[in-house]
Amino acid sequence: MIKSLRGMNDILSEDYERFTYFIELASNIAQNYGFHYIETPLLEETALFKRSVGESSDIVGKEMYQFIDKGENDVCLRPEGTAGVVRAFIQKKLDKAGGIHRFFYHGPMFRYERPQKGRLREFHQFGVESFGVASVYEDASMIMMVADILDACGIGYRLQLNSLGDSNCMPQYRENLVKFIESVEDEICEDCKRRKKSNPIRVLDCKNEKCQSLYVDAPKLINSLCDGCQSDFEKLKKILDENNIAYEIDTNLVRGLDYYSKTAFEFVSDNIGSQSAIAGGGRYDRLVEFLDGRATPAVGFAMGIERLMELIVMPEKKREGYYFGAMDEEALELILKLTQQKRKSKKAACDYKAKNLKNHLKGADKINARFCCIIGSNELANNTIWVKDLLNKTEETISLEEF
Ligand code: HAM
Repeated sequence: MIKSLRGMNDILSEDYERFTYFIELASNIAQNYGFHYIETPLLEETALFKRSVGESSDIVGKEMYQFIDKGENDVCLRPEGTAGVVRAFIQKKLDKAGGIHRFFYHGPMFRYERPQKGRLREFHQFGVESFGVASVYEDASMIMMVADILDACGIGYRLQLNSLGDSNCMPQYRENLVKFIESVEDEICEDCKRRKKSNPIRVLDCKNEKCQSLYVDAPKLINSLCDGCQSDFEKLKKILDENNIAYEIDTNLVRGLDYYSKTAFEFVSDNIGSQSAIAGGGRYDRLVEFLDGRATPAVGFAMGIERLMELIVMPEKKREGYYFGAMDEEALELILKLTQQKRKSKKAACDYKAKNLKNHLKGADKINARFCCIIGSNELANNTIWVKDLLNKTEETISLEEF
């Protein structure tokens, strides 16, 4: 039997209900915040991710579904959504047009990770990207949007916050950090030795316990921010305070992608095991220029839908729509005709087998229909239909005309 690939899941039935419920809810909230839907291809040139997510990241270094296509192009399945949206933004010349452009998207992402609970190779993100707003108020809006979405889903969270500085303060900090890393270099893991050369701040979120114990004494970027970054970070904290959004400052939060500057944030849940990050994002003011566009400030986030699906509190299911059934073979044709008529405007299901009333009522209950509509030989002879309202528990026989 052929099975789905490791770390790749089918989404159906009850899961699909949660999945679409979340997407609809999050899309509505994003639209309330003034965002418009964007769809970008699943397959992109590999160079796009190398240049944006960064060659030093695990995503690009180890986890890409990369191959040479029939036209000898080096392509890969997108591991995340931001790079494609930035590429589209530049390709459509929106960077040259100026102004503010806000997008939201959802869809599958692919990372060749070691699968475990909450960590898939094909997973789905809901994300937003905002271009053209340098103000930290936009960063705050992003965080408030995630909080709104999580609140609407009944999901509790902890928000972790950091500032990664900008081109004024980051280079000096990096130099200080490298000096520190060199002072403990004999004791750190091989990955960190590599990170020291490629992207030193990534050592700070190394999962190795030995490394973490050494980095306790590392210089903190948050103590080395330039005036601009410091003042924005203070403003951000103040806005969150005023909006009753609790946060923790995590000076080791550097995110697994290289494009961030200034604000970086992650929402985590304590109720889903070790893969606890349910959303992550931040500012990436240099990325548009880095991908050959006109310099444009930008900020965004993405949420992992599979991780959220475990946590969503679904609203109580309401009975809706019609179930049609025949008690005699002769009534089947009429039943199908009535179902088709109702389907033009309402949800309607039909059982194509003649059954007794008890079985039809069971069938209607199973699909959570509001009305169970039955035609037997009496009804057929009299041009009537028996209708039971399964919500109000009333029943009546009415003429087909009235129906
Ligand atoms: P990310 O932190 O790599 O950020 O991913 C965002 C979310 O996707 C994570 O918080 C997590 O919920 C989910 N996720 C990531 N990897 C997996 C996986 N293997 N299995 C299941 N869920 C996963 C980004 O992708 C950035 N593009 C976010 C962003 C948008 N930053 C700015 N704009």
